[in-house]
Amino acid sequence: MNKRTTPLIVGNWKTTPATKEEAVKFIKALEKKCATSKKKLPKKSYYLAVPSVFIAHLAPLAKHGYIGAQNVSGQSLGQTTGGEIPSQLSSAGASFAIIGHSEVRKTGETQEARAIKVALSLQQNLTTIFCVGEKTRDKEGSYLKELEDDIRISFTDIPRNLFSNLIIAYEPVWAIGSKTPATPTECFEVVIALRRAIASLIGIDYAKKVHILYGGAVTKDTATTFLEEGGVDGLLIGRSSQEIVAFFDIITTTH
Ligand code: 13P
Repeated sequence: MNKRTTPLIVGNWKTTPATKEEAVKFIKALEKKCATSKKKLPKKSYYLAVPSVFIAHLAPLAKHGYIGAQNVSGQSLGQTTGGEIPSQLSSAGASFAIIGHSEVRKTGETQEARAIKVALSLQQNLTTIFCVGEKTRDKEGSYLKELEDDIRISFTDIPRNLFSNLIIAYEPVWAIGSKTPATPTECFEVVIALRRAIASLIGIDYAKKVHILYGGAVTKDTATTFLEEGGVDGLLIGRSSQEIVAFFDIITTTH
């Protein structure tokens, strides 16, 4: 099986690094590696979702990539304390936002809140990476129905013209932070189910095109297999994006 598109390599820095200085140092070093890479890379070859306070510092430095947010606030402009709304993130330099990551869901984010966040983020022209993934699997495969329902409920009210900026990330919760990723076959089965749900909601042409990422314990040794055999168009990477050599190795091995 072949890679479908130029792979989207997305890092999720989570609550790292500890300081702005470390973040700037990382991006400068990564940029140098991209600029001098022996392997020919596309003009933009990485996405990094960083702590929101670093966005304005990193976005101007990221000539070979895009800087984004790990979450958005679904509140409207006004009197709510804490959190950054999509227009604020965008004007600080964010090109994209992750929404519905399982670590955010765990803090009590509701389905309704997620749907609002997706709509606001897309309206703000942020490329929006929507995460879905099962906590556990059952033999009967009812987790697939759960994932399909998640897609349907979250996207039902989104205007069709905004879908071109949407990316889906399949992140099985049991693989995140673990030693073992899903197998490419396990990933492939879910990707088919997700495309089926999207087809019934938006149409088959869009369902074939929409970019789907895999995330959960990806390393440089497994990255390419997901793109070749897992039916995905890119990767959402936690730990291996928090270390320059590991992240750059993934960028070069997958392109
Ligand atoms: P790890 O790659 O560390 O398993 O994290 C995956 C993840 O949560 C990316 O969003």
